[in-house]
Amino acid sequence: MKIAISGKGGVGKTTLAAMLAYLFARDGYRVTAIDCDADINLPSALGLAEKPKPLSELHEIIEKRVVGPMGMYKLNPKVDDVFEDYSVYNEDGVRVLVLGTIEKGGEGCFCPENAFLRAILRHAIFKRKDVLILDMEAGIEHLGRGTARGVDLLIAVVEPGTRAVETLERIEKLGKDIGIERIAVVVNKFIESERARELVGRIKYPILGFVPYSECFVRADLENLPPYRVCDVKPFEEIKKKIEEIVE
Ligand SMILES: Nc1ncnc2c1ncn2[C@@H]1O[C@H](COP(=O)(O)OP(=O)(O)O)[C@@H](O)[C@H]1O
Ligand SMILES: [Mg+2]
Repeated sequence: MKIAISGKGGVGKTTLAAMLAYLFARDGYRVTAIDCDADINLPSALGLAEKPKPLSELHEIIEKRVVGPMGMYKLNPKVDDVFEDYSVYNEDGVRVLVLGTIEKGGEGCFCPENAFLRAILRHAIFKRKDVLILDMEAGIEHLGRGTARGVDLLIAVVEPGTRAVETLERIEKLGKDIGIERIAVVVNKFIESERARELVGRIKYPILGFVPYSECFVRADLENLPPYRVCDVKPFEEIKKKIEEIVE
């Protein structure tokens, strides 16, 4: 299954991506996690000391593989060797790749990077028990239709706040624009209050779960420890279960 995680900066996308990657791997899935955010911090959240080299920096390889002789575009460029070479495994067996920043192009963008990324994403999934997790920015339009095709679920992470709930609608629209139909929400940094409940009540998408506000996550980040090593994984186990129900 392919899961894309989106939302405003700082809401907890990378925390969720790392937690889910850990839990799926723990339960026997083969997990590939790709950091698609300009702020590259998924590798450290997954306990890697060094960041894998961003795929988008492979300009020459990308050009050569995607743009053939006489400027012909290849729709299925060869990527398997690059995929292997640029994957780094963490100690739980999660395969981590970093996309880096790719040129933003609208609908119909034929940047070689996009064609290459598409091929990479296709390559990441071959078995039923494979999970691909994309940690993305709020602006996901640069992925383009072709790349997003086959994403089973777009998870929007929100904090219970008026602005966050407004952003949701934009994320849904962006998802639709690139052909992702299924969207669900994770409410993060939840602090119980009447007002928070009321705001959450306005969300018209399925809610996968609530993660309480906890200083543990801040401490984990501060000490550069993966959140699943030091914080409560229970809310994320619930979220994972819901994802399995929705997607399978
Ligand atoms: N449930 C939570 N409670 C408290 N702090 C959190 C929670 N989830 C994430 N954080 C903290 O918020 C900050 C941003 O989280 P991060 O996952 O990096 O967000 P994003 O990837 O969306 O920018 C980090 O310092 C993280 O530790
Ligand atoms: Mg992040």
